[in-house]
Amino acid sequence: MARTSDIEKAAEVLRAGGLVALPTETVYGLGADAENPAAVSRIFQVKGRPPTHPLIVHIGGADQLADWVAEVPATARLLAEHFWPGPLTLVLRRGPRVPLEATGGLETVAVRVPDHPAALALLEAFGGGVTAPSANRFGSVSPTTADHVRAELGEAVDFVLDGGPCGVGVESTIVDVTGETPAILRPGGVTREDLEAVLDRPLDVPATSHVRVPGQHPSHYAPSARVVLVEPEQIAAEAQLAQEQGHQVGVLLPSTLAGTPVKAHAVVPVPASMAGYARELYGFLRELDQRGCDLIIASLPPEEGLGLAIANRLRRAAGPR
Ligand code: TXA
Ligand code: MG
Repeated sequence: MARTSDIEKAAEVLRAGGLVALPTETVYGLGADAENPAAVSRIFQVKGRPPTHPLIVHIGGADQLADWVAEVPATARLLAEHFWPGPLTLVLRRGPRVPLEATGGLETVAVRVPDHPAALALLEAFGGGVTAPSANRFGSVSPTTADHVRAELGEAVDFVLDGGPCGVGVESTIVDVTGETPAILRPGGVTREDLEAVLDRPLDVPATSHVRVPGQHPSHYAPSARVVLVEPEQIAAEAQLAQEQGHQVGVLLPSTLAGTPVKAHAVVPVPASMAGYARELYGFLRELDQRGCDLIIASLPPEEGLGLAIANRLRRAAGPR
């Protein structure tokens, strides 16, 4: 747990218009005072992110939601009650407190209450909202430890609040509740099944893209190595072939193939539980980059529960660059 003095320091940096990397239960965020347009704009510079790509506003509790949005529909209230604090982001109509810099010019705003003690302590000490995208350069893999943030953004961040490794490991589920029917824009830490149980209705999930978001391109959450998805039974043959062609191959070996001999530069056995896999996924991708792999071979897990978010990130990592 982060020290009280670190929380105070982080809150001061936010008040002064600086950038703070903060831990959340999903991934580390690159935070700024949501109401300071200059600070918010710096996030885009540091990330190399197009200014039309909207950010999430993090708040300290569901009771603050009405301060940030034009209205709180019943569906939003229901979902907030069930899943906050937690890995769920709600897209709602923007309230006047949210500058257009934070929403990429959209009249909607994404809001969430993170479930991490250090993030909640910081939000309380700061008192306002914190806009934060994942604390990585645009298009690359999200950081799940403070070391990932330091390695990737270094001096560009004014303060890194270290809250240990993230427990969920993939980003929040984004649900648009501005329309008549709620829509999942990005699968994530809250499962589709859990949302459907609470809403008592089936939900559609976009296959690879986060629709309705401007400036999307398919490759995202991507390591430097090229990612190739194959059926599990083809992994060993594909890895061997690519090695013979001169690639440094990294393999994410599904738990169903545990113990199978695979000829590759680096083989990472994947946890059997989807929660374990989600927690480690981005760390594995970073590790394979670091070990010098130029090609990563992986398979999609079953697309249910957290497997849906894992498959979504793997597909996008494998997308055209
Ligand atoms: O778990 C998370 O959500 C992490 C932690 C730090 O909270 N944050 C995160 O932020 O993943 P970012 O910026 O990497 O991804 C936010 C996504 C983007 O795909 C963005 O397009 C979408 O949220 N988004 C933000 N505002 C939106 C809006 N008004 N309408 C639709 N999508 C929106
Ligand atoms: Mg991101």
